[in-house]
Amino acid sequence: MARKGGDPLVCLTAYTAQTARLLDPHVDMLLVGDSLGMVVYGYDSTLPVTLAQMIAHGDAVVRHTRKALVVVDLPFGSYQASRAQAFEAAAQVMAQTGCTAVKLEGGVEMAETVAFLCQRGIPVMGHVGLTPQAVNTLGGYRSRGKDDAESVKIRLDARAIADAGAFSIVVEAVREPLARELTLDLPVPIIGIGGSPACDGQILVTDDLLGMFGGFTPRFVKRYAELGEAVSQAASAYAADVHTRRFPGPEHVFGAKPKFN
Ligand code: KIV
Repeated sequence: MARKGGDPLVCLTAYTAQTARLLDPHVDMLLVGDSLGMVVYGYDSTLPVTLAQMIAHGDAVVRHTRKALVVVDLPFGSYQASRAQAFEAAAQVMAQTGCTAVKLEGGVEMAETVAFLCQRGIPVMGHVGLTPQAVNTLGGYRSRGKDDAESVKIRLDARAIADAGAFSIVVEAVREPLARELTLDLPVPIIGIGGSPACDGQILVTDDLLGMFGGFTPRFVKRYAELGEAVSQAASAYAADVHTRRFPGPEHVFGAKPKFN
């Protein structure tokens, strides 16, 4: 919260120990996002993700992070029914992963829940705008804030979550002027994903940034590497070496005779 309006916060998703180790030196926050349902498990949406999956991945990430703040998403169905259900889920996530905070999606309708958690020792990050867990009621993954009614709703949602005590809010796929306005108006750090360069920080799904996720690439993703292509090329070179017996070479086996091959 002290970074509000200051040096932009660098945030990325992480789902595994290896990724956490590689990203930790470079970021302020690692989010164990429920996007892992699509990226790691290949589901069509984040809806099938379970609390057990979030806890398993959260635990791996926390144990291999030294510096960054680790936030774990509460998955669909684990917090919407009641404040008590949300507390139960968040407490399990915090106790079993050692993360510092949880994130949940929603606006005005979740404000009481956010306040309930914050008052009971659970730091909460909000998430408004395009909220993927509500894809079926939003009618798809399109950007938000296109008309006045949508913009008014997003303003009310973000304000309600900030007033409820969230320490930060992710604003996803919200028109640039509105994301900028929310950043200027609200007292907590606004983390943009498809938001505005004016936001207090930025977050991306790491696999998107690395060119590892084969599916649709949203407009707001900048690809900093093409690791998917690199993995495919490496597998193809390995396959060719195995077929032609170039692999393993003498240096890869034990006690090879001098005239190996
Ligand atoms: O689940 C996730 O990865 C997220 C980010 C896209 C913010 O919520």
